[in-house]
Amino acid sequence: MDLFSSTIAPFPSSPHPHSTCLKGRRLVVYSSRSSGSTNSPKEKMIISITGATGFIGRRLVQKLLSDKHKIHVLTRSRRNAQLIFPVESFSEVTIAEEQEWGESIQASDAVVNLAGMPISTRWSPEIKKEIKQSRVNVTRKVVHLINRMNADVRPSVLVSATAVGYYGTSENKVFDEKSPSGNDYLSEVCREWEARASEVDKDVRLVLLRIGVVLGKDGGALAKMIPLFKLFAGGPLGTGNQWFSWIHLDDLVNLICEALTNPSYKGIINGTAPNPVRLSEMCEQLGNVMGRPSWLPVPDFALKAVLGEGATIVLEGQKVIPAKAKELGFSFKYPFVRDALKAIISLSNSN
Ligand SMILES: NC(=O)c1ccc[n+]([C@@H]2O[C@H](COP(=O)([O-])OP(=O)(O)OC[C@H]3O[C@@H](n4cnc5c(N)ncnc54)[C@H](OP(=O)(O)O)[C@@H]3O)[C@@H](O)[C@H]2O)c1
Repeated sequence: MDLFSSTIAPFPSSPHPHSTCLKGRRLVVYSSRSSGSTNSPKEKMIISITGATGFIGRRLVQKLLSDKHKIHVLTRSRRNAQLIFPVESFSEVTIAEEQEWGESIQASDAVVNLAGMPISTRWSPEIKKEIKQSRVNVTRKVVHLINRMNADVRPSVLVSATAVGYYGTSENKVFDEKSPSGNDYLSEVCREWEARASEVDKDVRLVLLRIGVVLGKDGGALAKMIPLFKLFAGGPLGTGNQWFSWIHLDDLVNLICEALTNPSYKGIINGTAPNPVRLSEMCEQLGNVMGRPSWLPVPDFALKAVLGEGATIVLEGQKVIPAKAKELGFSFKYPFVRDALKAIISLSNSN
């Protein structure tokens, strides 16, 4: 089982056919979709993405390419990005280092902003500062580059990541997009991150995705949790009562794609599955799909050893409901954690 491999498997089709009127340079292409009509018209777009080289970004690039869009990877390191997107297999990907971001964005119809230093580390005061600054600074830069362009050459949509950490943590409250922010460190990071994105000019459609814990094969919290889980024969983490607001990587990527093309997607949207679970249930389901009964608790210290203080995301959760996505009719391929885990574990076993 290779949970850390970066091989990119074929992406399942998006559930929502849509087309939008963007800038004049696009071509209309036809692609097959999993639900509804099989041949729906779709706009071919150029999309600039920060954080494209990361866990979510890699999958997003793969999906957008399969939908025949062109991608501009906005990165800090061309060398690293070229290793992830070698030109032989990614001819529709253009890589841009920071001094080229302006040009790349100007040539784009849309921007997705996913950059940020990983939070699964030890949180020294310096690292905490960088966790925040890496998000705030990249977002400020992207917004500045968009705003200084003439309205007729600007991308028409900015989809910017933020996180459910915005709401703070609670064992009994339920949070939707209208809930107030919390008062811990991560909620402060999210507020500032969102505030910078909200400075984009009003003629650019802004979607702020408050993302939950993303479950996927090739990275994120799950890849780090599984070996631990095996070691401790998979029991609840901490007390097990904490809420775990998760989303399958493919659903998140489909949500981003939908946000890019569907003009009804605007403002704050929670990127979480409709059925968050208590951590004890998440561990029980993981134990079941891995064929390991859940009986020994994984101690907090072990989780902190692999996730650093970033473990607070898992050890002190929040119950977040995707009210807006449901209202918009977004169809989740994995509404239940058992199915999501089953799909991920079977994919890992088959590689
Ligand atoms: N994964 C989750 O469960 C989850 C949950 C909630 C929110 N989010 C948010 O969603 C976004 C993407 O998540 P991810 O899991 O795909 O992240 P990731 O794998 O850690 O990748 C993020 C990307 O950000 C860039 N980056 C890293 N450190 C940076 C720094 N110090 N300054 C500027 N850029 C830096 C890197 O791109 P380059 O090296 O190419 O520049 C990296 O590939 C992040 O902002 C994350 O906070 C993720």
